[in-house]
Amino acid sequence: MNLLCMTFLTLMKLHQSPAGASPLRIPAAPPQPPAGPSEADQKFAEEYLHLFYGYQPKPDRRKRAAASRDDSDQTMGFCHKVKKMQRFFGLTPDGKLSEETLTVMKKPRCGLSDVEPYGGAVRWRKRTISYRIAGENLPFPASRTHKAVRRALKLWSSVSLIRFRRREAKEADVSIAFFSGAVFSADHGDGSPFSGKGGALAHAFLPGLGIGGDVHFDSEEEWTLNSTGISLPVVAAHEFGHALGLSHSPDPGSIMYPAYNFAPSLELSFDDVKSIQHLYGENPNFHLQSLKSPPPKTPDKCDPDLSFDAVTELQQEVVFFKDRFMWRKHPSFVETRITLISSLWSDSVPSHLDAVYENVEKNVILFFKGDQYWKVQHLILQEGFPRNISDLGFPSRIKSVDAALHFRNDRYTVFFTGHECWRYNELRAVMEGSPMLIEQQWLEIPFPLDAAVFYEGFVNFFKGNKQYKYDFGQNRIVSVSRANDLMDCEMGKSNKHIS
Ligand SMILES: *[C@@H]1O[C@H](CO)[C@@H](O)[C@H](O)[C@H]1NC(C)=O
Ligand SMILES: *[C@@H]1O[C@H](CO)[C@@H](O)[C@H](O)[C@H]1NC(C)=O
Ligand SMILES: [Zn+2]
Ligand SMILES: [Zn+2]
Repeated sequence: MNLLCMTFLTLMKLHQSPAGASPLRIPAAPPQPPAGPSEADQKFAEEYLHLFYGYQPKPDRRKRAAASRDDSDQTMGFCHKVKKMQRFFGLTPDGKLSEETLTVMKKPRCGLSDVEPYGGAVRWRKRTISYRIAGENLPFPASRTHKAVRRALKLWSSVSLIRFRRREAKEADVSIAFFSGAVFSADHGDGSPFSGKGGALAHAFLPGLGIGGDVHFDSEEEWTLNSTGISLPVVAAHEFGHALGLSHSPDPGSIMYPAYNFAPSLELSFDDVKSIQHLYGENPNFHLQSLKSPPPKTPDKCDPDLSFDAVTELQQEVVFFKDRFMWRKHPSFVETRITLISSLWSDSVPSHLDAVYENVEKNVILFFKGDQYWKVQHLILQEGFPRNISDLGFPSRIKSVDAALHFRNDRYTVFFTGHECWRYNELRAVMEGSPMLIEQQWLEIPFPLDAAVFYEGFVNFFKGNKQYKYDFGQNRIVSVSRANDLMDCEMGKSNKHIS
């Protein structure tokens, strides 16, 4: 059965250009076919929402007479859960099983729910926790597996007053085991079978007696000890967070974010550190350490000093990039939520980008970093990419681009590099002529730029924590505001914590 969601999207004026403004733009052909999700995807999504968002399909639905009302209840319940999941992951909360919603659902993740009440302050009443690793199904020789586990435990013990002690006996506070879903038995004794490769990677139990504090890994994943494949230390660090009493965090910079995070390094974020210290107190050694290398903070969209790496139009949205994060602003939804670049485009697209633009006509997105660029279509990196930006016609003295501005109607893109700008003809795929000076082409705008994007008929240029609204018709800046002016921030109020 296909549960179709009602949508309340209002038709919007795509591009309101002021009179005389030259970038008149036609709506491009919709790149995504409006076909609904397949039966298999629908089933998958129902199961996913059941496991992680408490969705309860009504099994007796078909038996009932006059099912229409019932069905609409069911649909409302389903859409509500889809929206909940979309909000959690920073997707457009339209309640629809879009290609990107399904893509995010299919990412490897933790097997614990994102909404279950975790009871708030469940924690161990002692400071020294014993652990043991069951010997079966280990992904690596025992000594290397132990080393990976120790690395993950140490993350938590080095910032808080918790201590871990390894024990050989059968009983330990935290029993760590690897279970295979398919080979031995579907269920390894706790009612939550693993699904084989992909899907849930591991799960854990909150502090308590018996199974409390235990951590189970799916032995069928491709575990690694480095940043390729699924990193055992990274997943273990997340699960030990649960074993110590932490629940899932909607902060994509947190190690307690439920989706497997293609984080470049194994480290706790500022919020992880605060959460564990709240439960167990601060390790006195941590204070000195943190002065030298403070734990990373997730960028705050309402930080008055926020700057962006790149900004682009994407369909009807505006997307703001910063480090490994992005915010998406949809015209029909007030909230702009943070998510990981990798949650959508996997790890094929790098973090700390220089420039991004969407070519609507060709339905591709181009990402620039250093002297390379990546081309993505339908969320998938195209073959042969990344490529060298010299392929686009830049001379070898150009090592990177600062910003890219795509003109949908006129089918060209302006690249900004230092004090120069370049015009790239998208139809003929060539750079037109020689570069121009920014100060002659775009009066008064600062350079080098951080980002540029069309927004409501103006061009918005970004540099540092400022945004310059440029009127194409008058050829001048009409207003200057904070770079994060388009975020839904109340003045003077920080919305860092996503509720
Ligand atoms: C990462 O580990 C895997 C197996 O654990 C190994 O095959 C691969 O070569 C390693 N990669 C790097 C870059 O060290
Ligand atoms: C890209 O091309 C330039 C100029 O040909 C060259 O200097 C540079 O090394 C190339 N970069 C990469 C990553 O191959
Ligand atoms: Zn988890
Ligand atoms: Zn289990």
